[in-house]
Amino acid sequence: MIDIHAHILNNLDDGPEDLKGARHLVSLLHSEGVEMVIATPHLIPERYPDVTKTAVRRRIRELEGIIPIYEGYELHANYLPENLKDYTLAGSDYVLIEFSPFTPSSSIPIITKRLKDKGFIPIIAHAERYSLEIGTLKRFKKSGALLQFNAETIINMGTILYKLIKLEIIDFIASDIHPGRKAGLRDAHTIVKGYSEELANRLFYLNPYSVIKNQKIDGGML
Ligand SMILES: [Fe+2]
Repeated sequence: MIDIHAHILNNLDDGPEDLKGARHLVSLLHSEGVEMVIATPHLIPERYPDVTKTAVRRRIRELEGIIPIYEGYELHANYLPENLKDYTLAGSDYVLIEFSPFTPSSSIPIITKRLKDKGFIPIIAHAERYSLEIGTLKRFKKSGALLQFNAETIINMGTILYKLIKLEIIDFIASDIHPGRKAGLRDAHTIVKGYSEELANRLFYLNPYSVIKNQKIDGGML
């Protein structure tokens, strides 16, 4: 598996408080079957002023040795940086973006379309937080966004998951791991694999790998 959303770097955001805690989270992901991870600290300067490219790269270097770790960020729609190109996932054209709980879901496709028009491929982080209504999720996708769901949510989703899977609404499943939270990847993978092995491979491996390779998720070059 490849995890594209993880708060594993220490002393930057609400991730671990020290290097030991950071190593623990990476080891946990590894034990769940993760072979590569994109570290995605929150880019919210008001709340987490220590999140800079230099600090992120240094933390990644310190954490090396368990599995490959790529540089990434979880952008917040209310704090988008001007130099967006510097804050993509693994240096690709993909950006991971979250929204305030107060953002109406009708505004989300407007924001993602703007990112798309600028040449980025927006991935909505934990899209399930903003809506589980099929029509709304389809509008998100129609704007050019891809949808990431958290593994922990997948585990507890029940029958709606089958609907979402059948309609090919979900593009990525990631851990969004923080200290004290479960990764949930192995269990979520088992559940999705129960529906379709091919789909599990796509959501947990092929689509994330396309992000790292900066290829379209259907495999074509960007
Ligand atoms: Fe996150």
